[in-house]
Amino acid sequence: MSRIRLGFIGCGGMGHRHLFGLAELHRAGLCPFDPVAVCDPREENAVSLASHVENHFGVRPLVARNPEEMAKAELQAVDICTDPRHHHTMAVEAMERGWDVMTEKPMGLTVRACRIMSETARRTGRLLSVAENYRRDPVNRLAKALLDTGVIGSPRSMIHSSAGGGNRMLISVWRHQKNASGILLDVGVHYSDILEYFLGPVVSVYAQTRLHEKIRYNPASGKDPDTLPKNSPAGVYEKWQTQMPAEFAATAEDAAHAVLVFASGAVCQYLEDHAAHGRGFWHRAIYGSAGSLDLPGDRSGNPITLTLSDGTVHDGASLLDFVPSFRLDDATSVLFAGDRLWRYAFPFPETDRKIIAIEYADFGQAIRDGRPPEVDAEAGTRSVAVSYGMLESGYAGHVVSVEEVITDRTNAYQSEINESLGL
Ligand SMILES: NC(=O)c1ccc[n+]([C@@H]2O[C@H](COP(=O)([O-])OP(=O)(O)OC[C@H]3O[C@@H](n4cnc5c(N)ncnc54)[C@H](O)[C@@H]3O)[C@@H](O)[C@H]2O)c1
Repeated sequence: MSRIRLGFIGCGGMGHRHLFGLAELHRAGLCPFDPVAVCDPREENAVSLASHVENHFGVRPLVARNPEEMAKAELQAVDICTDPRHHHTMAVEAMERGWDVMTEKPMGLTVRACRIMSETARRTGRLLSVAENYRRDPVNRLAKALLDTGVIGSPRSMIHSSAGGGNRMLISVWRHQKNASGILLDVGVHYSDILEYFLGPVVSVYAQTRLHEKIRYNPASGKDPDTLPKNSPAGVYEKWQTQMPAEFAATAEDAAHAVLVFASGAVCQYLEDHAAHGRGFWHRAIYGSAGSLDLPGDRSGNPITLTLSDGTVHDGASLLDFVPSFRLDDATSVLFAGDRLWRYAFPFPETDRKIIAIEYADFGQAIRDGRPPEVDAEAGTRSVAVSYGMLESGYAGHVVSVEEVITDRTNAYQSEINESLGL
């Protein structure tokens, strides 16, 4: 079967991580794509990615500054890894040119941007996939199977809380700017997706949101990147962080305290605090009518703890006994070396590559089979709407329904962002 001609749009941190994921799929003998073009207005980023493509695939791709130049590579599909302000313009242009699209999360910078992308996908008949990675973690797949089998009975409540970060920059300046994808969207959209993946649609949200740290600090600024420990995700961001300012003003809220209600009636108590000083923590648990699941950090490989009403605890291979028909999909099974996993142990960059490889396997199979991707435009829009539901509620001071946010009837918080995008 001929391989799909793929172009990369956006060659920063995630563009590089995606290429490492594609190379992982290639090494596993499962890659349906030929990476033939890379595109970034920052030429040094595009050239860097082109060199990695050449290393892994043996062929140097076309280096372009924009989609028009990329078109010379006769593309069939693109992978969009620009910062979120450009997702919708790049996706719309790509689909108009007849290319199928996988875009990084958040699908669009606002709900309105997502709606424009969905409408274009419908009109052009192109496939639009969202590269949402957390749900594809094999341990989260097992958690979903346990929930669907009813091991903890009917889910009643979920706790999702994380706190840490203090006043330090999280990865990059743009993640602290409201008009560029503030931190509660950048990280929150992953959590919104996983909430709905586990427990179904969220219908309403009440939140208090805050901007605690109005100045953020970047300890890597001005340093020699070769002297820095590679602490950023997959160790790819340090070279850019050294060029970013040592301190800057933050305009995006950095803490959300929320109550989310699911269509099922279950309730989630949600804390996402990126400005917490002192001891940080991360906690996710689901309580049902017959037991509870304590869930490990996404991409950690750590096991789930299942506690049943009678006090019995399962946190090892016996978890699999509850889901005899549970099987990971083919690509995940090959990449993680097993089709029934309850834990795994790889260094983070390797886990990151494998999970991104799964996203590509799904995107490629969806193109070949003419089926929707796992995380389609609807799911991508919903997770953006749930995250903005918290920000809209915090702004308005009352409960909002996800329906009013998803239909763009409630958008007061987003209006400044839409205006800055010209939407
Ligand atoms: N799924 C995850 O775990 C995860 C992790 C990190 C980032 N992301 C997402 O990936 C995306 C990129 O994040 P990042 O950390 O790589 O940001 P980044 O700032 O490191 O890189 C963005 C790149 O896009 C380029 N760019 C900007 N406008 C462009 C355009 N019009 N055409 C082509 N290139 C353009 C920039 O020059 C830069 O090289 C974001 O949507 C982010 O939310 C996802």
